[in-house]
Parts: sequence; structure tokens; C-alpha cells
Amino acid sequence: MYRNEAEVGRAISDSRVPREQIFITTKLPPHHAGRERDTILASLRALGTDYVDLWLIHWPPHGASPRTWREFIAVRNAGLARSIGVSNYTLSQLDELQDATGETPAVNQIRWSPSLYDPLVLAGHRERGVVLEGYSPFKNTDLADPRLGKIAAQHRVSPAQVVVRWHVQHGIVVIPKSARPERLSANIDVYGFSLSHQVIADIDALARP
Ligand SMILES: NC(=O)c1ccc[n+]([C@@H]2O[C@H](COP(=O)([O-])OP(=O)(O)OC[C@H]3O[C@@H](n4cnc5c(N)ncnc54)[C@H](OP(=O)(O)O)[C@@H]3O)[C@@H](O)[C@H]2O)c1
Repeated sequence: MYRNEAEVGRAISDSRVPREQIFITTKLPPHHAGRERDTILASLRALGTDYVDLWLIHWPPHGASPRTWREFIAVRNAGLARSIGVSNYTLSQLDELQDATGETPAVNQIRWSPSLYDPLVLAGHRERGVVLEGYSPFKNTDLADPRLGKIAAQHRVSPAQVVVRWHVQHGIVVIPKSARPERLSANIDVYGFSLSHQVIADIDALARP
């Protein structure tokens, strides 16, 4: 759906970084349900690789769709994807896939940010052994919030870095997007400081009005 696989493939090739040092995720658009194998083969061709690291169902196609999930398992077993997961699934939809196939998705990519923090949803993923991958961490955050600004100033970092670090300390995979090289560098530069339990709890509390 993002229509960027060929560009990503070209960038990987131009970078000369060895394939095994790059983690590539791509997704099955929900309207491609029923054409799973053709879709992954087309993605691999465009990306110029013979496997992806993670393949996700972008959105529940028609409900949880155990039929699509069975095809995902077959693609993973054929070595075309090292791991498989879903996106925008509820906990009960994850259970539906597990009940129907005996396999739980490795990852569920869902909207996540301090303002959306829900400890029950996080615990539900952990109990099921599903990695919560949070998307749109900044779009759902007011980076000008003075409470975030104060925490950022105390740690001599930016509010965006506080938000990324908060995800990391919660054990959530976070995928901030930026088109600016300087922000790409800053957003990943979050391993030189840490947030105390109290500060994490204060950020959790931003979700409560
Ligand atoms: N599974 C799904 O259904 C789904 C849906 C939506 C998104 N996603 C994924 O989630 C990832 C991120 O999503 P997103 O673009 O929606 O949200 P995002 O990463 O929360 O926000 C991106 C916006 O934040 C700005 N930004 C980046 N770094 C910043 C910084 N340090 N300070 C201030 N602003 C900053 C970017 O502007 P600049 O580019 O100008 O820096 C851009 O406008 C993407 O990989 C996307 O594919 C998944």
C-alpha cells in the first residue's frame, strides 16, 4: 500500500550494507487476501531480496481471517519470511488465529503513544507472547506538551526522544517515521539516557485526562 518497495530495494542495494544487517518488514494489503503467495513474491521481486524479516497482515481482511493466517504460516515455512505477524488486530482477534491454527502472530503493529497508553492491552500482548509494535508515536503525541518538555529538558534531550525512549523502556518496538536525516539520527539516539520508574509513570499518566 505504501508503494515504496522498489525504492527501498534500490536503497538497500545502493547502501552496500549486507542484507543480514537490515531488517525488512512489508505487509499484505487486506484486499490482497486470497493472493498471499503472489503478493509476497511480488514484494520480494520489488525489494530485490529472497526473504523479508517480517511480513504483516496490514489490517484484519474480513475479521481475523484464519485462512489468510494459514497462508502466512505456509509462506514462513517456505522461507520467504523469517517471521510473520499482523497489524491493527484486537486481542480477541489474535486469540482467534491461535485457536484456529495453533500459531500466534509474532508481532501486532498497532497505534501507540503515551496518550494511547493502555496497560491492559500491553499486558494482553505480553501474556500471549506477541510483540507490541507501536506506530505513529509522534502523530498521536503533543510534542509541545509542557510536561514532556520539562522531562526532556531534565534529560537534555528532545520531547521526541523522550517519547521513543518511553516505548523502549516499556519493551515496545517503536517505528517513528521521518523524511529528515537529522531527525532519523536523533530519533534513534536514545541509548545515552534513561527514564526513572517515576518518570515512566508520569508519561503513562498522559493517557489519563
Ligand atoms: N499499521 C498501520 O496501519 C500503520 C498506520 C500508520 C502508520 N504506520 C507506520 O508507522 C510508522 C510511523 O508512522 P507515522 O508517519 O504515521 O507517524 P509518526 O512517526 O508518529 O509521525 C511522523 C511525523 O512526525 C514528524 N517527526 C519525526 N521525527 C520528529 C522529531 N524528532 N520531532 C518532531 N517531529 C518529528 C515527521 O515529520 P518529518 O518527516 O518532516 O520529520 C512526521 O510528520 C511508519 O512506518 C508507518 O508505516 C502503520
